Amino acid sequence: MLIKKKSGLEIPSSEITPEHLYRSRRQFMKGAAALGLLAGLAACRPGGNAPRGRAPVADLEAIEPGSVGAASDELGDELTNFWEIITYNNFYEFTTDKTGVAGMSAALQTSPWEIEVGGLVNNPGVYDVDDLLRLFDEEERIYRLRCVEAWSMVIPWLGFPLSKLLERVEPTSAARYVRFETLYDAAQMPGQRRGTYEWPYVEGLRLDEAMHDLTILSTGLYGRSLLPQNGAPIRLVVPWKYGFKSIKSIVKIELVAEQPTSLWMAAAPHEYGFYANVNPSVSHPRWSQRSERRIGELGRRDTLMFNGYEEQVAHLYADMDLRENF
Ligand code: MTE
Repeated sequence: MLIKKKSGLEIPSSEITPEHLYRSRRQFMKGAAALGLLAGLAACRPGGNAPRGRAPVADLEAIEPGSVGAASDELGDELTNFWEIITYNNFYEFTTDKTGVAGMSAALQTSPWEIEVGGLVNNPGVYDVDDLLRLFDEEERIYRLRCVEAWSMVIPWLGFPLSKLLERVEPTSAARYVRFETLYDAAQMPGQRRGTYEWPYVEGLRLDEAMHDLTILSTGLYGRSLLPQNGAPIRLVVPWKYGFKSIKSIVKIELVAEQPTSLWMAAAPHEYGFYANVNPSVSHPRWSQRSERRIGELGRRDTLMFNGYEEQVAHLYADMDLRENF
């Protein structure tokens, strides 16, 4: 979802790397092992709250869809291969090259990691991620992730409902939106040294969207702690919205009265709206959203309204024109 700006950093308009061009699993393993890039891989966390640690590169080989609770989502869609999930990423703070994110983000310091939760709340606080994991039980949630660029995955996340944290800080009656911010640290995140976007990455939700049970803060996937490329140590996941709403590596959550302006709204307001609900009948100005490429599959499949979560979330938008509020 690169926007069109004459910066010299443009990615072709399709924005989709053909499968044959991205490095094969074996090639990446060899290269990454040689460079020590995967040293940050966190230890397996089958019970959810075991301490974070490091695992040998060879462990990656063992992780297959069968190692989590189910092999498919509630629609019967198969889980995306772990390897694809950790090597095909959008994390513009590092690079716009999807297959380069894993390597470039490997050294990101993700522990200790604090999140400031404040704004219009009665109990503001600063939480270490490990505190959050002690406070809230992790659950496995198998969700479809639909990127605005028209590719998708099925990911078994570990996390807890954002509502649990929000209930704890007690939003005041003036709070109507939640604003999220990613780490701003240009020394660690080379993409932030370029002026293409207004850093830090910011996203927002309406309070009722944030309180919805499907909305989670994720700390892991495939039974393991998140790797940096997927937004370690903690990220948002909102499965009925385009993937860019699911902001990574969060350091600040603020309850606010006014609708926040996200990084993408600031960069290209005519292309990226605040709501960004998956909607096959509202095209992106530069491409259709009717279908998508499921990573790991040949061909395309139809995109579902609200990414297949219509029954659970349509009521949130009952009186809204979804073309205007894109
Ligand atoms: N969060 C931050 N901070 N920076 C980003 O560039 N990219 C978004 C989202 N969250 C992004 C981000 C986009 S466009 C997508 S599709 C998802 O992360 C991709 O998540 P994944 O790489 O874990 O699949």
